[in-house]
Amino acid sequence: MAKKGARTGSRRVAATDDLEVSTYLEIAGRKVGPKESPDKGAEETSQERPEAIVVLDFGSQYSMLIARRVRECRVYCEVLPYNTPWEKIAPLKPRGYILSGGPSSVYDPSAPLVPAYVYESRVPILGICYGMQALTHQLGGKVASGVKREYGPAVLHQNVSDHPIFRGLPREMPVWMSHGDQITEMPPGFSSLAYTDNAPVAVLGNDHKIIGLQFHPEVSHTPDGKTILKNFLYEICGCEGTWTPKSFIAESVKRIREQVGSGKVICALSGGVDSAVTAALVQRAIGDQLICIFVDNGLLRREEPERVRAVFERHLNLNLIYVDAVDRFLTRLAGVTDPEVKRHIIGEEFIRVFEEQATRLGEPQFLAQGTLYPDVIESNPPENSPSVKIKTHHNVGGLPDAMKLSLVEPLRQLFKDEVREVGLALGMPEEMVYRQPFPGPGLAIRIIGEVTRERLEMLRGADWVVMDEIKAAKLYRELWQSFAVLAPLHTVGVMGDYRTYGNMVAIRAVTSDDAMTADWARLPYDVLAKISNRIVNEVPGVNRVVYDISSKPPSTIEWE
Ligand code: XMP
Repeated sequence: MAKKGARTGSRRVAATDDLEVSTYLEIAGRKVGPKESPDKGAEETSQERPEAIVVLDFGSQYSMLIARRVRECRVYCEVLPYNTPWEKIAPLKPRGYILSGGPSSVYDPSAPLVPAYVYESRVPILGICYGMQALTHQLGGKVASGVKREYGPAVLHQNVSDHPIFRGLPREMPVWMSHGDQITEMPPGFSSLAYTDNAPVAVLGNDHKIIGLQFHPEVSHTPDGKTILKNFLYEICGCEGTWTPKSFIAESVKRIREQVGSGKVICALSGGVDSAVTAALVQRAIGDQLICIFVDNGLLRREEPERVRAVFERHLNLNLIYVDAVDRFLTRLAGVTDPEVKRHIIGEEFIRVFEEQATRLGEPQFLAQGTLYPDVIESNPPENSPSVKIKTHHNVGGLPDAMKLSLVEPLRQLFKDEVREVGLALGMPEEMVYRQPFPGPGLAIRIIGEVTRERLEMLRGADWVVMDEIKAAKLYRELWQSFAVLAPLHTVGVMGDYRTYGNMVAIRAVTSDDAMTADWARLPYDVLAKISNRIVNEVPGVNRVVYDISSKPPSTIEWE
């Protein structure tokens, strides 16, 4: 038996297994199986699962993007660390594996390798960049440092005319490369399917549906990348694209019922899309066993409490407890100017209100939360992964610990755009489904300095105008967020024949994919002009409007 990660001549083994190398070479041709077939476990546990693909993450910054592209093809997919044990994979019963790229070189002593069950399971494998190099290395080929690092666009030329991975694509196409190492010798049984000027083996494959791509099909700089992934899913793995909002809802309803039984579930509604879709989905499953709590903290936008009530009580018929906690929040915030102290007070007060309500309800056992897939991946990345990020904002953090509630998180497997699709399929109004994110501490972190009723009124007025004009210009959905900030900095102005000494309002409008980075939106001047004009005319106390042209980093989206 060879040791973990050891290399003797051309003999290699996976980091997670102790199979003999000869076994790998055989299983690359899928001729022999291991002593115990991984398919066994899968059959026992995954009868009702949708067709699924597993992306094994080797630490690429693009792993989540691969999953997104696969889901866009209506195939369910999960990103799991490369060293995930088989027992966790088995219930998914994967139709295929995608091995992500990653920062390692296969010749690093601690290089992450492909677990044996991937080869043994006899389903198709697509290795991308490092994933391709890892499988080449393990199956008896050679990987070496390229003469030069290849980063950026390249032209891919096919060596074959009818391979299913290229179905519907031209013989030459632009692709995006990002690699240092490259394939210098293919494993036995493999042939080169395409090359670029710098990579003689840019795509390789064998007769047993193992394919490697040196380039990144998941990024938008590879314009036909999605077709390549689609070909892998449909033509090679035999997927049919059955992952739809409707199938997701049916499956979730069943799971929620199983988890909750006759128990009571509470859910904090913020008015945002994640908690709203969570509530609608849980209600679809268990009806009145779900009780939603909406806390009006006095920091919401104009007409927001009324809108939330209208949608949830009347439209969705939800069991809703509306708590007017305006006075208690504003009393606690009086005199506070430090942004972090504001956040802390608001979070703490929210938990108190929520606990009081939950106690009145007689000890519910479950808490429904709108956790999304990116949060799940972020909290479970492979070691040393560059995709590790720090999540800073959790509105109801700490709640379950204190209250001993089990979590119901039906959106754990979804991306934001999928959540929106599910919301629409559940009959929620577009206005709510496409609402821009709004922070838990609300307008308190958009008023610089102390939060007072007067300032809140001013900000509400200005924010209303921004929203109104952005929607009128049909820009609302294009922007990640657009809002007003009240900087109670007094400046001189003139209105009529009078000198004024009023407040300043800043307009903030940003584009972003995930709020980790953002750019200021290039709003048309006439839209900015209308907003400015309306604010100084309609909002008493404001005599100056400025536009924030900072990106994130170095600024943040919110001002506090
Ligand atoms: P920043 O200002 O950090 O914001 O660039 C990134 C995203 O997070 C939102 N945000 C918050 N959300 N509680 C929240 O629920 C908070 O304390 C909080 N602070 C910022 C912000 O609106 C943006 O979408």
